[in-house]
Amino acid sequence: MAETIANLQIDGKDNPLDIVESSVGNEGLDIRSLRAQHGVVTFDPGFANTAGTTSALTYINGAEGQLMHRGYSIEDLALHCSFLEVSYLLLEGSLPNAAELQSWSDAVRVHTLLNEEMKRFFDAFPRDAHPMAILSSATNAISTFYEEYHNPGDAAAVRESAIRLMAKMPTIAAWAYKKSIGQPYMYPDNSRTYVENFLAMMFGLPVHRAEIDPVIVKALNVLLILHADHGQNCSTATVRFVGSSQANLFASVAAGMNALWGPLHGGANQAVIAMLQSIHDDPEATTESCIARAKDKDDPFRLMGFGHRVYKNYDPRARILKKYADDVLERVAGDDPLLEIAKGLEAAAREDDYFIERNLYPNVDFYSGIIFRALGFPPRMFTVLFALGRLPGWIANWKEMSEDPLTRIARPRQVYTGPAPLDFVPLGDR
Ligand code: CMC
Repeated sequence: MAETIANLQIDGKDNPLDIVESSVGNEGLDIRSLRAQHGVVTFDPGFANTAGTTSALTYINGAEGQLMHRGYSIEDLALHCSFLEVSYLLLEGSLPNAAELQSWSDAVRVHTLLNEEMKRFFDAFPRDAHPMAILSSATNAISTFYEEYHNPGDAAAVRESAIRLMAKMPTIAAWAYKKSIGQPYMYPDNSRTYVENFLAMMFGLPVHRAEIDPVIVKALNVLLILHADHGQNCSTATVRFVGSSQANLFASVAAGMNALWGPLHGGANQAVIAMLQSIHDDPEATTESCIARAKDKDDPFRLMGFGHRVYKNYDPRARILKKYADDVLERVAGDDPLLEIAKGLEAAAREDDYFIERNLYPNVDFYSGIIFRALGFPPRMFTVLFALGRLPGWIANWKEMSEDPLTRIARPRQVYTGPAPLDFVPLGDR
């Protein structure tokens, strides 16, 4: 933060602004002194043009459709790494060597069990409870077993909490699913890898050890990596926001999960399948009618899985997934008519002026649901899978926030538009 390159004139007065330097991409204009010096605040609904922080985790070039974590392209990471390796990269700052990866995997492996009391917690939900509600509640609930690890200023306690969250989240996610289908909760099997273990808890039974298809393990590994982090998206910003009050890591992550659940964010993957299914099942809901509805400003319907706040080009994660969808379907599930409908919808949207003018391309959620479905997951679990993938990104952002000396409690301003001071009228005179 040094050189002044911008000068903002307000009421004829100069206000030189410092630049917050970036390593790549947009630099920041430091507007911190504006209100104190000139009595104005910046106005930016949805924070579309506002950086609340610096971050060394993830770089997105929305115009080019480029994504990298700690300098590595998402394409390389998805092709060459395991999900735990990428998690280590995000949390520790560099790719692990073999010994570091082994010790990180071992640390996660020994914490996969949930406290037995948690079974009663899962039992208490209605059978048809949405698994995202269970996921965030259970994340908050497990914090009660580890209160001595809540101090954000205690690096060893934070590390322990991070490991516990990474280790227990697959167990929580699988139990949320078992609850919904009335099957017994499966204990983790620490002889398995992270992804295998999750699949075994999802699809195994006490009477039948699940045989896990390596093709499915590989596909889920890639999917989790593609979701691992994505800058200051709504859920990550929520995690930072909540954490900025020095709320503990579990509470902050649980809040992020609730933000993720919304259909404009991670909930879009479930909504995409519902949209594709309706085109498949309902003769009145065609590709053309969906496109027409999405363009109609009097209709709240949006083409789910399309558009992105940052990408004004093809989302690189969607590009990887589109290629991957054909491959996975061919190897594990055969044809899926929804994939053909999705491709048809994409082709139609990409030729339509409305979508071309607004740079609306498929995002990560457009093809992920089709693959999750092919791997055997029901649509209500899709956003849970997104959360499982995003977990290392949330934790890494929370850590970066709590270690940053510039962090202050998040507290945006507003431009007040209510009444000016009024004379009070006593109740009897109104
Ligand atoms: N269908 C139809 N029109 C759209 C869509 C869509 N999916 N997305 C954006 N638009 C239009 C929007 O109506 C607006 O038009 P106009 O300029 O005429 O008012 C223009 O495009 C810009 O949209 P915006 O709402 O200002 O963009 P945003 O950055 O605020 O919202 C978004 C981004 C992702 C919420 C939005 O594109 C959307 O609602 N997409 C559908 C939901 C979805 O797929 N969400 C997943 C996002 S990616 C993964 C994740 O973050 O979880």
